[in-house]
Amino acid sequence: MADQVEITSLGHAGLRVETAGVRMLMDPWLSRRGAFLGAWHQLPSNDHLDTPELREVDWVTVSHEHLDHMDLDLLRRLSPSTRVLINRYPSRNFHRRLLEAGVANLVEVPPWQHFPLNTRGDWLAFIPEQSPMCHDAGVLVRAGGVSLLHCNDARLTVAQCRRAAVEAGGVLDVMAVQMSGASWHPIRYQYPPEVFARISASKRLGKFKAVTRLVRGVRPNLAVPFAGPPCFLDPVLRENNRFIPDPGIFPSLDDAAGWLAEHLPAQASMRWLPGDRYEVGSGRYTPDPRWDGFSFSFPALESWLDGYAADRRAAIEAVYADHPDPDDGLGERFAEHFARLGELSDYFLERIAMVVRFEVEGPGGGRWDVRLGPDKVRVDLAGRARDVQYRFRVPSRWLAPVVDGAIGWEDLLLSLRFSAWRSPDVYNDYLVGLLKHADAEALRAVQHYEQTRERSETITVSTPDGSYEIGRWCPHAGEDLAVGAVIDGRVLRCLGHNFDFDLATGACLNARCDPLPTRPAGGSGGLKSEALTQVPPGRAEPSVSPSVEKAPAHAAEWPLRQPT
Ligand code: FES
Repeated sequence: MADQVEITSLGHAGLRVETAGVRMLMDPWLSRRGAFLGAWHQLPSNDHLDTPELREVDWVTVSHEHLDHMDLDLLRRLSPSTRVLINRYPSRNFHRRLLEAGVANLVEVPPWQHFPLNTRGDWLAFIPEQSPMCHDAGVLVRAGGVSLLHCNDARLTVAQCRRAAVEAGGVLDVMAVQMSGASWHPIRYQYPPEVFARISASKRLGKFKAVTRLVRGVRPNLAVPFAGPPCFLDPVLRENNRFIPDPGIFPSLDDAAGWLAEHLPAQASMRWLPGDRYEVGSGRYTPDPRWDGFSFSFPALESWLDGYAADRRAAIEAVYADHPDPDDGLGERFAEHFARLGELSDYFLERIAMVVRFEVEGPGGGRWDVRLGPDKVRVDLAGRARDVQYRFRVPSRWLAPVVDGAIGWEDLLLSLRFSAWRSPDVYNDYLVGLLKHADAEALRAVQHYEQTRERSETITVSTPDGSYEIGRWCPHAGEDLAVGAVIDGRVLRCLGHNFDFDLATGACLNARCDPLPTRPAGGSGGLKSEALTQVPPGRAEPSVSPSVEKAPAHAAEWPLRQPT
């Protein structure tokens, strides 16, 4: 018999869970300063929930380092008896950052370990992403006889979520899923309008499909879209709110819930706003009356954002005041910063292999080139490189805290307070990985993962041009391509992170990544091409044959071609 278990939405990815034996906050983000240098703000606002009663809990979980999940101000104000639980990642960066911020009572929990929350048998477990390239974890809670999977931003696989359901007793009562992106691509890149629109629509659709696949594979009793979208209230960033409506990469909760209702009609789903309460078991839902009449639709949302921006003006001005223009020594500190990064991992440097130009605007700025490659890192503060492949343009006041170690590179990139250009237009996961981890231990873990992962299992996929036998696990971060991919012509798109692979060559077309093992299947096995073409547009998800075959003994010798 289940206890009464109440979940209160705190907005964004925040939840409060309360049963007879557990009071817990999960990824609470209530700061009036928003996150990422004052750029992101909760949509809709949730600071009315920041009360002593709310903070009076036994446990707080924080899934990862992104500041829309790790509200340092709130974590510092917790009651002295509250313990803060985080996943144990390969590096101690996350733990160190919380400690340095003054967060007390930290407990690191190994992945998948059932951590007891009381003596009544309630527990939780962190479920990290398969690849250590992203330090991000879902949280499975079993309390009061019910189960909740808080996926936050982690790209969990269907297999991981199914295991979570089994460990929770066979079914997930509530599964909270992120359906809005947390990315600076393509919105900070310089693209022609039609390319921009295509990439944006593709990312939005890819995210929706990935979540649909996950929910369909797990069949929770209730699916709840959460963890976004943010909104932008600083006048210089307000234009980014245009990425909330279709085809933007920050879809609203209404659009996300509408998608689930349309594409998984048998699946129960709800959308919650900050302060809404839901009783698991009875299913009683109590909406916060504050949101009567609130709408995510434009132009109503635009005028609501006007009032919200006015309310947050002083908080945003305080962020500017905390980040004054740097002095003339920024260039030297920038060079030292990259010299340190250059000592962390030859494996990463070999895979980055490019010149990145920083056009730093404002006091202390300049044009600075960074050559990252097998021969380590060289910085030219005169910006004379002729083979630049990546360019960041960033105001010096926002770069300075990164160089000085006050914030991480991802905090700057997610702030959208920069613009970028790259040629070729290929995502370099190793560059982003080096910048965001900036830690030898974390980079070694990625290298170990990539060099030792399973490669021999294969599946057969069909396209209108023929069938291919391919490696089952995505060479990027291990997504199961038997259920986590779509095919468009001769291109397979992994829904894990939307990397495209040419099925004929294996080359990754839009990111720097090892190739996908592939070869012609010889016409046997897999779905017939007609089955693919019968799938209506927008529902082409299960286009990979689930037929799994063991690889032949010579699989490791397949003639793999390098990415172009
Ligand atoms: S797992 Fe990242 S693109 Fe496949």
